[in-house]
Amino acid sequence: MDVRDAVASRYSCRAFLPHPVPEHVVRAILEQAARAPSGGNLQPWRVVALAGEPLEELKAMLRPRFATELPRGEGAEYQVYPSPLDAPYRSRRFSVGEALYRSIGVAREDRAARIRQYARNYLFFDAPAALFCSIERGMGPPQWSDLGGFVQTVMLLARAYGLHSCAQEAWTNWHKTVSRFIGLPAEELLFCAIAIGYADAHAPINGWRSPRESLAAFATFRGFSGPAPHS
Ligand SMILES: Cc1cc2nc3c(=O)[nH]c(=O)nc-3n(C[C@H](O)[C@H](O)[C@H](O)COP(=O)(O)O)c2cc1C
Repeated sequence: MDVRDAVASRYSCRAFLPHPVPEHVVRAILEQAARAPSGGNLQPWRVVALAGEPLEELKAMLRPRFATELPRGEGAEYQVYPSPLDAPYRSRRFSVGEALYRSIGVAREDRAARIRQYARNYLFFDAPAALFCSIERGMGPPQWSDLGGFVQTVMLLARAYGLHSCAQEAWTNWHKTVSRFIGLPAEELLFCAIAIGYADAHAPINGWRSPRESLAAFATFRGFSGPAPHS
């Protein structure tokens, strides 16, 4: 698969088929993703991969807590969005949420249904495999950015193996339970999970795509001359 196809076909998949993902595939993805660059080659990413029994065990531990503890869970360990979230970011976040809930016929005012859908984060949207990505607490924004590059590399490589994925910051809300469950050392902080599996192409929640700003909205060009050569 051409890298452009991998980028273009990746989206946040929120409904997976039950087909298992073989361990050797997850190992290959992670090994290849470790080619991601990082400042000073620090390679600050840490990953715990779950499937099968341990994955089910974690979900079973959390499921009974959904009714009383969501949406907050145990409380986020890091601030996911700036507060307040100003323009233009606020409206971008709002519109992607609206599109998601519209795709499954959930009305804005139906809080219970929204929380039910939100809870599916904590079932990894039924994905058969999941990665928990963490980083040492002493690492700063540059290393978090390296971790982000690694996460995207994992998700693009997943496409090359016919898989889809969803990065999930939502898991910070269960950081205590997850850290205990996966045996995260105290000096490491859980950043996100990545749900991985085969997309349910017929699920309405997978049937829409998030918008992007135009190139002119985020990039400026200076000093280029002539038309770009085709590569
Ligand atoms: C680091 C990271 C964390 C995310 N966390 C969640 C999450 O917890 N739950 C979720 O449904 N989507 C999550 N997303 C998906 C974003 O909402 C999504 O990337 C964005 O709306 C753009 O849509 P696309 O990925 O389909 O292109 C996350 C994405 C990233 C990069």
